[in-house]
This record gives sequence, C-alpha cells and structure tokens, in this order.
Amino acid sequence: MNTIAIGNDHSGVALKNKLVALLEKRGLTVVNCGTDSDASCDYPDIAQKVVAAVADGRAARGVLICGTGLGMSYVANRRRGIRAALCWSQEVAALAREHNDSNVIVLPARAQTLDPVEDILSAWLDTPFSNDPRHQRRINKIEEQQNA
Ligand code: RB5
Repeated sequence: MNTIAIGNDHSGVALKNKLVALLEKRGLTVVNCGTDSDASCDYPDIAQKVVAAVADGRAARGVLICGTGLGMSYVANRRRGIRAALCWSQEVAALAREHNDSNVIVLPARAQTLDPVEDILSAWLDTPFSNDPRHQRRINKIEEQQNA
C-alpha cells in the first residue's frame, strides 16, 4: 500500500505543502489530515486523525508536523501499534526505521534540523526495518505497554 497520511497544525502548513510535493513525486498517495490555514488549531486532534489512519490500515505510514514535533509525538505514541519518531537528522530517521520500525515520522516546523527536512523524510521512507529479533522483541514490548 502506498498511501501516506499527513497531518500538521498551524505551524506546519508550508512544510506540509513541501513534503506533500515530495511524496507525490515519489508516486505515493497522500491523505491530508492537517490544516491548510494559519489559524491556530490543536495538534492532538490532527495527530489522532493520522494515527487512526495508520492503525486502521487506511495508510501505510504517517507524517506529523508541529512546531517542535513534541506535542504530535506525545499524542501519537500513546496508541498501540504506533511508533512515532521525532527525527532531526537523516541518521536518526534511518535508525528509526532500521531499529524501531517506525511507522510515523514527526518533523519540527519551527526548530532547526541537522539535515534538510526532505532528506530526513527520504531516509525514513527508504530505510527498511532490520528484522533483527532483538529489535522486534523490544518493539513487541512497546506495543504491550501502549493503550489500545
Ligand atoms: C503550537 O503553537 C505549538 O505548541 C505546537 O505546534 C507544537 O510545537 C507543540 O508541541
């Protein structure tokens, strides 16, 4: 499945539009769960829409954007089966896939990243999970500890 759910609050409209272009250029179908307005809105409402799409299988993966990336991460990681990774470099994005099998990437719209954000997203999209049993065991424990 090549559908990606993307969600942003008011701080992330410009970054969302840039990343939607990248995703579509890669042939992915994008479901826009975020706001397209600069008017203030609440990131928990947006995060819920994206994680529901991923958890229900309507999207293969999700992308979340808020000012720091923190609020979106807090909300997303509460839900069982969601592994949301706040990524500030290509290396972290690749490791979030390889070790953590991350299915949601969280990107900060108002904070500095080490690498260009398009490169961070591409590294996350392109890196497979290692399938290492050690990492799988830890992921299973995360899932047991999450809310349903
Ligand atoms: C909104 O102003 C800001 O709080 C939000 O984008 C995010 O950074 C929260 O974690």
